[in-house]
Amino acid sequence: MSEHAITLKVNGKTHNITVKSNELLLNVLRERFYLTGTKYGCGLAECGACTILHGDRSVMSCMIPAVVADGWEITTSEGLADGDKLTPLQEAFVNEGAIQCGFCTPGMVVTATALLKENPDPSEDEIRDYLRGNYCRCTGYGAIIKAVKKAAGEMKKETKK
Ligand code: FES
Ligand code: FES
Repeated sequence: MSEHAITLKVNGKTHNITVKSNELLLNVLRERFYLTGTKYGCGLAECGACTILHGDRSVMSCMIPAVVADGWEITTSEGLADGDKLTPLQEAFVNEGAIQCGFCTPGMVVTATALLKENPDPSEDEIRDYLRGNYCRCTGYGAIIKAVKKAAGEMKKETKK
């Protein structure tokens, strides 16, 4: 199996590493950088548990050979908060009870982060549509939608200050 030198910027830190041509970005994040918030759910682009940000765009890391991500700026769920200060979305997920087992939560919050960057005032239908690739087996989605709405409202208030 051939090896490739790549550079990844992950949560603000630059890493120069060598990866095998069949190594997945998801496994690099989890097994080399110990960023285990990025979950292995289906490995088939069906559950969204492995979602990360590539720049401002959400992508499923289980579908990406690490070599393809050479030069990418990546944010994982661990990189969203500012130290101990949660983002409005993370706070809203906690306060709205949008977390049960928590397996889907990092990917869900990452995808919702991308949504609010793209569309700061989404309707309920737009939230549902954007999150359609992220499965939650526990919450029934109602609290998640509410949390995203609430975070959007909080962020709008912040930008008006
Ligand atoms: S693990 Fe990537 S979409 Fe399910
Ligand atoms: S909280 Fe359990 S899968 Fe979503």
